[in-house]
Amino acid sequence: MWNLNNKTVVISGATNGIGKAAAIELSKENPKILFTYRNQSLADELLTEIKDVSPNTRVQPVYCDFSDQNSIKKCANEINDLCTSIDVLINNAGVVNTSYHETADGIENTFAVNHLGYFLFTNLLLQKLKGDGEARIVNVSSAAHSFVKKMQWEDINFKHNFGQGLRPYGQSKLANLLFTRRLAIKLSTDNISVNAIHPGGVNTSLGSQNKAWYSKPLRLILRPFFRSPLKGAESIIYLATKQDDGVTGEYFVDSKIHKSSTYSKNLEEAQKLWELSEKLVGQTFNI
Ligand SMILES: NC(=O)c1ccc[n+]([C@@H]2O[C@H](COP(=O)([O-])OP(=O)(O)OC[C@H]3O[C@@H](n4cnc5c(N)ncnc54)[C@H](OP(=O)(O)O)[C@@H]3O)[C@@H](O)[C@H]2O)c1
Repeated sequence: MWNLNNKTVVISGATNGIGKAAAIELSKENPKILFTYRNQSLADELLTEIKDVSPNTRVQPVYCDFSDQNSIKKCANEINDLCTSIDVLINNAGVVNTSYHETADGIENTFAVNHLGYFLFTNLLLQKLKGDGEARIVNVSSAAHSFVKKMQWEDINFKHNFGQGLRPYGQSKLANLLFTRRLAIKLSTDNISVNAIHPGGVNTSLGSQNKAWYSKPLRLILRPFFRSPLKGAESIIYLATKQDDGVTGEYFVDSKIHKSSTYSKNLEEAQKLWELSEKLVGQTFNI
């Protein structure tokens, strides 16, 4: 086991579902935990739950709305001020939308939160990840990455064919894998591993904000087949705590390396996504 005692763990979207289960479980290792939140009462609930299971763990909530690039920058600045180094970054905050809507930055919400959120947040925290020897980045992706064969470069926002939102969600999770592979190569000499996971079908509040008539019945029908948030968090916990075996740029399911789509390993496409992402966040990252 990689001992997390006194190490710093940053986790996004920890106020619900998989991220919450991961934060509570990891807190038992006694690291310093910084988690992002949007809703103050959910953040307070998590603080109480962590204090109950691990009274000595230092926990710091930091506000972030991942659909707003200014909010991501502000949050990253705060975290950079609060930490001398970061040992584990878990990019987990995510959303499923059944209808099209754009963020204030003019980007479709699913792509903005699920991909650009991970991309910008990680790059802004990179100096602290490089700070203290070994570090790990875990990107929560999904088997849904195979809902699409490739990135829809000609209309990355799916403005003209959003449908019920499944393909835009799939594309955002494919983007998580392309980002994981590209970043892993960029950081290959920095002792920072970058891996992605699929948590399984998990009983969480994912998609609960959607107003489509079928949203709620679909979640109720699927619920008995879905695993618990803690079970869904297992691969995250595994990657955050396992002995360093040098594995990077991989996709894990049930704590084991798993095959992802052929396209998700295409490094030219991964580089193309990197350049588009830089353009969309208006910043270049020379790693
Ligand atoms: N559940 C599954 O079956 C499943 C399967 C494959 C992959 N995943 C992935 O697992 C990750 C976690 O999802 P989950 O199932 O645990 O869903 P969840 O229960 O809805 O939790 C999602 C978390 O992300 C946060 N979040 C959503 N939009 C945000 C935004 N704009 N800004 C900041 N935070 C935001 C939520 O904050 P609030 O608490 O404020 O809503 C919440 O803490 C996602 O990346 C998802 O794609 C889930």
